[in-house]
Amino acid sequence: MPLQITVRAAKPAAVAGDVLVIGTFTRASAKQKKGAPDALATIDRAMNSSLSKLIAREEFKAKKDQSVRMPTVGKLPFHTIIVLGLGDRDAMTDAEARAFAGRAARAAQGEKARRLTLVLPEGLESRLRFVTEGLFLGAYRFDKYLTGDRLPKAHLEKVAIVTSAPVPGSAKADVALGEKIAAAVNLSRDLSNETPNALPPVALAEAAQRVAAEHGLGIEVFDMKEIKKRGMHLIEAVGQGSAHEPRFVHLSYIPKGKAHKRLAFVGKGITFDTGGISIKPAASMGEMKHDMSGAGNMVGLMAAVAALKPQVEVHAYMACAENMPDGKAYRPGDVWPSLDGKSVEIINTDAEGRLVLADALAYARTTKPDLLVDNATLTGACVVALGTTCSGFYATNDETAAEFAAAVKQSGEQMWRMPLLEEIKEQLKSDVADLKHTGDRWGGSISAALFLREFIGDVKNWVHADIAGPATTDRAVGWCPKGATGHGVLTYVALVERAAHASA
Ligand code: BES
Ligand code: MN
Ligand code: ZN
Repeated sequence: MPLQITVRAAKPAAVAGDVLVIGTFTRASAKQKKGAPDALATIDRAMNSSLSKLIAREEFKAKKDQSVRMPTVGKLPFHTIIVLGLGDRDAMTDAEARAFAGRAARAAQGEKARRLTLVLPEGLESRLRFVTEGLFLGAYRFDKYLTGDRLPKAHLEKVAIVTSAPVPGSAKADVALGEKIAAAVNLSRDLSNETPNALPPVALAEAAQRVAAEHGLGIEVFDMKEIKKRGMHLIEAVGQGSAHEPRFVHLSYIPKGKAHKRLAFVGKGITFDTGGISIKPAASMGEMKHDMSGAGNMVGLMAAVAALKPQVEVHAYMACAENMPDGKAYRPGDVWPSLDGKSVEIINTDAEGRLVLADALAYARTTKPDLLVDNATLTGACVVALGTTCSGFYATNDETAAEFAAAVKQSGEQMWRMPLLEEIKEQLKSDVADLKHTGDRWGGSISAALFLREFIGDVKNWVHADIAGPATTDRAVGWCPKGATGHGVLTYVALVERAAHASA
């Protein structure tokens, strides 16, 4: 059911709904200091001061992790009021606005609300795109397999955004764009959450084909025969152990008129990672359905790019395969040629991601991108290093790292720069081939990055993002409900928008 969003300047309780959400800062606004009542004071008055008493009793200080909930017992045209803490007013960013709206949508759904009235704190009316993104991202649920009683009792259907300041003229366009960007991220989440029996590599490629057809993007899909013919033998090696053939996908967006920059993105699309012959333990192996999140991000990213229509060329490559143990599976000890030409000795078939990415990078570099970014749920080591909410990223130079970090900051996602320590390259020396594909346990995320770097050829500006941790979340935070997050897409969208603006 589509979520309908309206925006109007009105008194906080003027638009009836099931739930009213108010955001409030730790410090009062200038207007409030002058004595004008803010939304919270207005609502409190209607509630005969019971809201301010609850706020005092619960020691609610409007910190970002705080909220209060109060039934209205018929005093207002909502059944429940929720006050969300927003922290420091001066620290408000686009991403904070998105997180606020995400929390509001999640809270409303927690109350089984169909209609939410969202009171925007003053100043946020200039961030309607991001508020809208947050609403759609926060309201996201993956419930296609639930039946009967397990189906959610109510879906959020209508959100009335209420502002105290006049509604800006761009509101309609901001909301429309926010909806499209959020839908793109939610598409990536749907793909990542999809079950491995329903999403073999072919189905992942078909999802890309649907997006290409819908938005008029360029697309090329290679099947196993074509993958072999092209010399993408590392993708072949990983994919040959599965009854489901691998696929390689190239999506492209070429703007009308002159493109000032060319960006290329690559995603790991392991639709299920058993570990192959080096099989993983049974405990939580099911989580490895998310091992295609990097490729799923490419589908969402290109849908977002199609909505933005930037004056930059954008290419997205997806290396899709299923990593299975089988009579035909590749094995430790094998040596395989790569598209780049270098031969690779297989050490552990569970390090399959870097293999499919190696060929994808070698292919992607032929478009001669100004910036090449790959993203992958690549190593457990990266999750050990940075935890489950922050990705590690590697860059070939400081300028590229700074530009990527700026996009990360803009998106509000968390990614931390990691070092390409040259001494770790030692670990990739093989006696029988040009390269081993894994090193020691220590520095496992770095050796993976160094392995990938061997395949970027003469591309100067390369970023590798290891999204193994934040691709999923085991608890709802900000604009992310539990499960697949689509982490990465918003950063890549920011990169594309920055490239478009820089060259405009
Ligand atoms: N897909 C996994 C990495 C992963 C781990 C993603 C945890 C999400 C959560 C990857 O293919 C893998 O198995 N990596 C191995 C590499 C090792 C064999 C060198 C790992 O991290 O243990
Ligand atoms: Mn693996
Ligand atoms: Zn994997």
